[in-house]
Amino acid sequence: MSSVYEISTERERLDIALIHDFLSTSYWARGIPRAVVERCIQHSLCFGVYCGAEQVGFARVVTDFATMGYIADVFVVPTHRRRGLGKMLVRSILAHPDLQGLRRLTLATKDAHGLYAQFGFKPLEHPGNYMAIHRPDLYRKSRTQKTRLAKTVGRA
Ligand SMILES: CC(C)(COP(=O)(O)OP(=O)(O)OC[C@H]1O[C@@H](n2cnc3c(N)ncnc32)[C@H](O)[C@@H]1OP(=O)(O)O)[C@@H](O)C(=O)NCCC(=O)NCCS
Repeated sequence: MSSVYEISTERERLDIALIHDFLSTSYWARGIPRAVVERCIQHSLCFGVYCGAEQVGFARVVTDFATMGYIADVFVVPTHRRRGLGKMLVRSILAHPDLQGLRRLTLATKDAHGLYAQFGFKPLEHPGNYMAIHRPDLYRKSRTQKTRLAKTVGRA
């Protein structure tokens, strides 16, 4: 089934509108502005999945290409799911020549552990060693702020 699909890392080929549409309604990046999506694509190694000319999946890796990488924003559009494309994406990331020899490759997921486990990913051995600044409501806040700002400007 996956023979009709191809994966490309050509940034110019990406369908930014599709990626933004998906991410802005995802559980992890709800409300993300298009300009932010464009910026993170610009600074990541991006993987697009294509069915002919149509983009049907996406993932990106934030990396120094030497020691570490972080896999983010993995998705397959609903109509093309359960055909092996999620696995094809992860396989392509792990096989990419510029991502060989990294000491650490990480990702975060709410419920797709079973996908990544097939490729050797495991829960953090020492989660207490990791720290993060996480602002899950950042884009919602900024929308509210924008609305408030618009109202304030409207009143002036
Ligand atoms: C997760 C996702 C990319 C998988 O894509 P897919 O093309 O349907 O996946 P595949 O057909 O390659 O199969 C995935 C395998 O992982 C397993 N799996 C485990 N948890 C899963 C989950 N939460 N969602 C999908 N598959 C999951 C499937 O059962 C399947 O196992 P199999 O090898 O026994 O068939 C897709 O469901 C998706 O876009 N989901 C919404 C976005 C999302 O949650 N992304 C992950 C963020 S980390």
